[in-house]
Amino acid sequence: MQEEPKTILRTKFEEEVHQGLTDFPKHLSSKYFYDELGDKLFQDIMNMPEYYLTNAEHNIFEAHKAEISELFREGNEKFKLIELGAGDGRKTKILLAYLTKTKADFKYQPIDISQNVLNQLEESINHELPDVHIEPLQGTYFEVLNRINIENGTKKVILFLGSNIGNLLHHQAIDFLKHVCDFMNDDDLLFIGFDQKKNPQTVLNAYNDASGITSDFNKNILARINRELRANFDLDKFVHWEVYDPETGTAKSYLVSKERQSVFISNLNLQIEFEPWETIHTEISQKYDDKIVSWLAQESRLQIVGKFSDPKQQFKNYVFKKQIL
Ligand code: AVJ
Repeated sequence: MQEEPKTILRTKFEEEVHQGLTDFPKHLSSKYFYDELGDKLFQDIMNMPEYYLTNAEHNIFEAHKAEISELFREGNEKFKLIELGAGDGRKTKILLAYLTKTKADFKYQPIDISQNVLNQLEESINHELPDVHIEPLQGTYFEVLNRINIENGTKKVILFLGSNIGNLLHHQAIDFLKHVCDFMNDDDLLFIGFDQKKNPQTVLNAYNDASGITSDFNKNILARINRELRANFDLDKFVHWEVYDPETGTAKSYLVSKERQSVFISNLNLQIEFEPWETIHTEISQKYDDKIVSWLAQESRLQIVGKFSDPKQQFKNYVFKKQIL
């Protein structure tokens, strides 16, 4: 029998782009925003006046660094400070500085998929905080957690900041939290940033800035497909569109095709047709309240043992432990 000529799908990226753009309605995963240009655009987003998240979490760290550090140390214990998706470490450095100043016995293990990001972080830590013992770990979160959990015994404090969890639907967040929980011992802590429900206009503005940086960031996923998969998306023929549902707390990003058009992706040997005003869903940025976070914790067999907020209650950091059975 004759086999159908099949395009070989090589990478996970190629596979997911193929899947997402042949699905109806079309979608692409926000995890693919972050190539070198995407990292740079996200840095620019964090510096925009509309993107309140970064400053709010920064303020929490500045105001509560003593209490937070106290929780981490609890009884002068030695611990490992593990950060999932460290980025530029701007907020973490506040804690690192305070922990060092107060002679805490810890090592800092940032985990990131990008070696480039880790190199920059290591260099800046060595320069700004030479007393911090840093051990950068390259890989995906669970790959690395698997690898380092062999050297057991030492208390772990796991950081997941910036409301990165908001890119996950609730059921995905629960799977993620359960998985992290599997790596935790009874004394270990999990410290997570959750952006809070607030004036819907404030949320909308954060993802729909006047300068168009978020639009460039969103469209970078098409630019990346052009670069890496040899496609011919015309970025000007798509509009960045943001919606926020204050009931569910979900902000959603789309790229909307302004006209009927077809795009060819050479590496996938795939032609994609767009109807006028057809959408590609690219990201969710979930907003939370105490009730939702309690429910997520309960579903993931975690208990909340601490909570820190900025004065305007825009953002909260929660501290979790394993539920004691
Ligand atoms: C990095 C996932 C926290 O959803 O707020 C910023 C990414 N997207 N502007 C967020 C993002 C559009 C950001 N996170």
